[in-house]
Amino acid sequence: MEPENYYATPELAAAYDTDSEGRRDLDFYLSLAARLNTVRVADIGAGTGLLCSLLAGAGHEVTGVEPQHTMLDIARRQEHAASVWWLHGTAEKLPAGWADLVLMTGHVAQYFLDDAAWAEAVGHAKRSLRSGGRLAFEVRNPAAAAWRSWTTQGRQWATDRGAGTVSIEVSRDGDLVTHVDTWTRENISRTTSETLEIPLA
Ligand SMILES: C[S@@+](CC[C@H](N)C(=O)[O-])C[C@H]1O[C@@H](n2cnc3c(N)ncnc32)[C@H](O)[C@@H]1O
Repeated sequence: MEPENYYATPELAAAYDTDSEGRRDLDFYLSLAARLNTVRVADIGAGTGLLCSLLAGAGHEVTGVEPQHTMLDIARRQEHAASVWWLHGTAEKLPAGWADLVLMTGHVAQYFLDDAAWAEAVGHAKRSLRSGGRLAFEVRNPAAAAWRSWTTQGRQWATDRGAGTVSIEVSRDGDLVTHVDTWTRENISRTTSETLEIPLA
């Protein structure tokens, strides 16, 4: 059976916010939006919408665009979700000339696996910005080579959604790193795959 998209897997999407607890980037982006006197923020690959909700709670007008229904369903239940304009899809869905600040957080920028895909995504971000607006994004530090330590066999995992084991196989092809994860819980097994562009430092 073909591996699934990690974020399209309901159990894993549901565990995303608990798995990401303690992240420090959210405060960074909130203070960035404040520092730039931002009114309108667009978040590409908004995921479970946590940052969109926090930005809306801080008084910004927010659009979150996300291709996976599983993630978007969770996003629509975040605290300030009712104030966010949710769009299903990718950056091409963003309205033109709308945003003061466009974000790609949580390694979204590393899903664009070649120069053409990256240029297209940045082109849509630019199109959605008003004149003088900003794009902010982050990538994993290639020098840290975190992917070298992702391989694991039968590691225990536990969230408030349950517990089980995960085995991860990592492969590299040029600048692309793929990890195939097999999640097992109570005789249920799911396999997911994700490819990121992580150049060698
Ligand atoms: C690691 S999560 C990050 C979610 C959120 N930005 C955060 O910081 O928590 C990556 C998200 O990007 C979405 N994604 C994947 N490919 C995408 C694309 N081409 N355009 C927009 N979003 C994409 C995934 O569905 C997933 O929700």
